[in-house]
Formats: sequence, structure tokens, C-alpha cells
Amino acid sequence: MTDRHSTSETIWHYHNTTKHALHGYAAGPAALDLNDQPVAFRWYEGSKKYDLPLIADTLHTLYTDLYQPTNIKPRVLSLDNIACQLELSFGLSAWKQYGAAKWALRCNPSSGNLHAEEAYVICNQVDGLNSGVYHYLSRDHQLEQRCGFDANLLPDDTLLIGLSSIQWREAWKYGERAYRYCQLDIGHAIAALRYAAAALGWQVEIVDQTSDAQLATLLGLNRENDFGKAEAEHPDVLLQISTATEKKDVDLDKLFDAIAVGNWVGQANVLSSHHMYQWPIIDEVTVAAEKPNTEKHTIKQHNFPEPLSSPCQQEAANLIRDRRSAQAFDGTTTISSEVFYRILDMSLPRQDTPPWDCSPWTDNIILIMFVHRVDGLEPGLYTLVRNPGSLDAFKTALGREEFLWKSIEDCPEHLPLYNLVQADGQNMATTLSCHQDIAGQSCFSLGMIADCSVIDVASWHYCRLYWEAGMIGQVLYLEAEAAGVQGTGIGCYFDDTVHELLGITDNRWQSLYHFTVGGGIRDSRIQTIPPYAHLNR
Ligand SMILES: Cc1cc2nc3c(=O)[nH]c(=O)nc-3n(C[C@H](O)[C@H](O)[C@H](O)COP(=O)(O)O)c2cc1C
Repeated sequence: MTDRHSTSETIWHYHNTTKHALHGYAAGPAALDLNDQPVAFRWYEGSKKYDLPLIADTLHTLYTDLYQPTNIKPRVLSLDNIACQLELSFGLSAWKQYGAAKWALRCNPSSGNLHAEEAYVICNQVDGLNSGVYHYLSRDHQLEQRCGFDANLLPDDTLLIGLSSIQWREAWKYGERAYRYCQLDIGHAIAALRYAAAALGWQVEIVDQTSDAQLATLLGLNRENDFGKAEAEHPDVLLQISTATEKKDVDLDKLFDAIAVGNWVGQANVLSSHHMYQWPIIDEVTVAAEKPNTEKHTIKQHNFPEPLSSPCQQEAANLIRDRRSAQAFDGTTTISSEVFYRILDMSLPRQDTPPWDCSPWTDNIILIMFVHRVDGLEPGLYTLVRNPGSLDAFKTALGREEFLWKSIEDCPEHLPLYNLVQADGQNMATTLSCHQDIAGQSCFSLGMIADCSVIDVASWHYCRLYWEAGMIGQVLYLEAEAAGVQGTGIGCYFDDTVHELLGITDNRWQSLYHFTVGGGIRDSRIQTIPPYAHLNR
């Protein structure tokens, strides 16, 4: 495919082929092969395991302080604090049981709870951990050592975390659309990692220069013999954590050289015994979206004022672990306009505020919202133009003359929120999100419309657009919890029906993710079990 087409054509071919439509869904398995369901956890046989302490309960940072990182005294880089960083981003948050079925939930959400993403830690000079590359096994809250190397390859106070995806996990259930879900999950994971680091007073930055091939080397994902018949992992993103306020540069070349000749141990487990379906289009888009080495990205600055305040007094560690996707909404709960504005405000790409301060790719997405139950706001269709610089282009793209583009009276001045239509949109929202009631029975639901022109600049931006959408989703999840309601990510929606509603006629603006926030209903038949009761640690 990539020989015959330019990489951006391959991306567009994938994107257009994997749209859900009212008349038919993107290609997926005709039947779920339950005997072949991927094992929920990856581990490396033969690697040395380090049990991590569970200390998140001792962390009393308030959730609202996460947005004022300079107020939080940085914790030292120790085994305990690394454990806490991992527990609050990728650790288990509960086990659920219904009849004979039992499944784990994690602090970060995932499409279908399939958790394609894996996390790796690279550290040196940490008491209790040999210098090296480790895989995090969330089930056992353990680090598995994959590689050992000589000390002094990283500056003091610095830790690297690499994320990868096992695409098969999502493809097993969702077929061709799975690549999109893997990327959304990575966006959620990046934000989850940033929030956890903020709770420890740490800084995070995506190391955006590295190529996918370098990241594969760094994480040992290209070591064919260590994988054998085990499902491959795709390298996604490398993040640098600094416990000091001044971030120091990592000598990546030195690190790559050392790791390439390091002492690697461990054999990846096989997740499914046979793969009944193959989805070659995912391999094609993966190759087309591969990132080469690049210059460091320059970050655009936006002048937003300080975030709006929130009355939430919860501790971050509790709120993060209590986050849950609502499976159903009550259709009656309302939120105040102040709560609504605060939630939207936190989605703005402020470069000095978590989670946005860790990523150079933050302002390509505009929100289109169905407001159902927000006190003081007429039900209807609204838009939040997160990057006000895109307003004119977006107005032109929405080819509907009947849209009002009306400012909202009591809305804070800096919030680029506009009312487009006044009408009850509950049925429409439900229909657009694959007939899922969660989109209509909530307080509001939304679509994330991305400016895809960056894909023609470089194909690898395709993934980064989803990462931005996933990060917005993670902000909405935590903000919803902080406001006493719940959120749910929605990966299933009818792409072009959304575009048609908005009058979008070309490919530049595309809906990449939906989300809904409201009064969740808990299913009392499902039992909740503490996350790490099985460890006796
Ligand atoms: C990218 C993404 C897409 C999702 N799509 C849907 C969806 O279409 N419908 C739905 O009910 N839940 C959806 N969810 C919610 C997941 O099912 C949920 O995150 C998962 O079951 C884990 O539960 P938790 O979020 O409570 O930890 C989605 C979540 C993510 C991150």
C-alpha cells in the first residue's frame, strides 16, 4: 500500500474505510471468538521482578492543586514515589465481578476495557532499583527488569516512561477501527501519567524528537527473539519526568547506544493462542503513520487567564482511583452553568497547566456539544473553539447558514463558547453515537472535531490528533468526578452523519472521539473488589 500511495493517502484510506455509518459499521469480527480473548496482562517470563509498595493512600495532594503544579512540593525520585506514579496512572483501581465473570479496572480508561497500552520505565541511580529498562505489570504492581545498563545515563532527578500498544488487544474485538482506539487510549494514558506526576510535584514532557524505531530499541520492542509468537507491541511515545523544576537534557544518543548493547532478559507472554481474524489495514496505517526523527516541536502559546476555580476538596489520589465510566445515565441530573464552564475551561490548551503542559500537540481539536441538562443554558448545539485562532476557518467549514454563533450571556469572557442551535438534541445525540443512550441521557455530550490539515504536513500527526482527543477525554473524566457526576468516552459514532449535521463537506475537519457527562447510574448487581487485595502487600 505505501509503495503505491503517499503515506497521507494511506492514512486517509484507513480513516475513510474505518468510518461507522448509519447503513453499516466498519469491518470487525463477524463473531467474537471468546476462546481467543487476549490475556489482559503482558508479562516477561524470566525477568527479575520488583514488588512495588502501595503508597498512594499517603499522598494528600488536593485534586484542584494539580492545576497549580508550582504549589506542590516535589517528592524525591525514590522507589516509593515511582511506585506511586505508576499506581495512579496505570495501576488497577478495582476488580469487578458479575457471576463468574471478573475483570480489572485501571486508573486510565480504555476502549472496551481492553487496555492495548503497556508502560515501561527507564531509570538510573534510584535506591532499590538497578539502572535499566523495566516493564510495569499492573496486575501485580511490579516492575519487571528487561535490561540492565551502567549508571549515569540519565541526569539526576530524571526518569523516562515509554508507552506502547498491543494493537491485537483492541483488534480482537473491534477489527479495523481498533487502531483509532489504541491511539485514543494512548492520549488518555499520557494525561493519566501527567496527572499522577503532578500529584507528586513532578514535571513531564513528551520527548518529541525520537523516531518510532528509536523508541522500539529503547523499550526492547524490536527484539524479535524475546517476542517469538507473542503479539507485537508498537512504540508510541516517550515521556521525560523531572522531579526538579529545571528539566535537564537527556543524552539520547548515549542512551540508545548503551541500551542496544545492554543485557536484556525476559520472554513476552502470548496473549491469544490463535488469531482467527487478521486486519492488514491496521499494519498499513501503522507503517504510514510511523514517526521519523524530527526537530523539537515549537509550542504555540495561547493567552488564557488562570483556570476557573472549583469547589472540589477531594484528594487527587482518591479521585483518580474512583474515576469510573458511567454505563448508563439517569436522564434527570442537571449541572450548573458554573460547573459546565469549569469543565470546559480545563479542556483549554494552557501550556503551563497539566495535562497540557507535557505535550506539544494540544490545540487542533474543537468541541461540538449537545447541551441537554445545564441550568441556565438552553438545550441545543454549542461549540467550544479551544484554539480561538481557528474560529474563522471553522466557521467557514460549518456550512450551515442557520447556525446562530451566539455568545452566551453569563459565560466567562475568555471561554470561546458559542450557541449554534436551540433545540432538544437528545435523540440526535443518541443516534450519532451509534444509538447509545449514554449520549442523550446525560447533562451534555460532545464530539471532538479535529483540524486534520496537519496530516498533510506529516502523516504521523494522525496519531497525535487522537492523543489530543484522548487527553481531552481524560480531563473530562476527572473534571466530571470532581463535580460529582461521571463521564464516559465514546469511540462508537457515525462519522459522516456528524459531519453532515454540521455542514462539513471536506476532509479537513473530522470527528475523532465523542464523550458524555452526566448523572451516572451504578449497577448494583456488579460487585466491587479492592484493586490489590490479592497481593497481601
Ligand atoms: C477510547 C474509548 C472509547 C470508549 N468507547 C465507549 C463507547 O463507545 N461506549 C461505552 O459505553 N463506553 C466506552 N468507553 C468506556 C470504556 O468501556 C471504559 O473505559 C472501560 O470499560 C473501563 O472502565 P472504566 O473507564 O470505568 O475504568 C470508551 C473508553 C475509551 C477510553
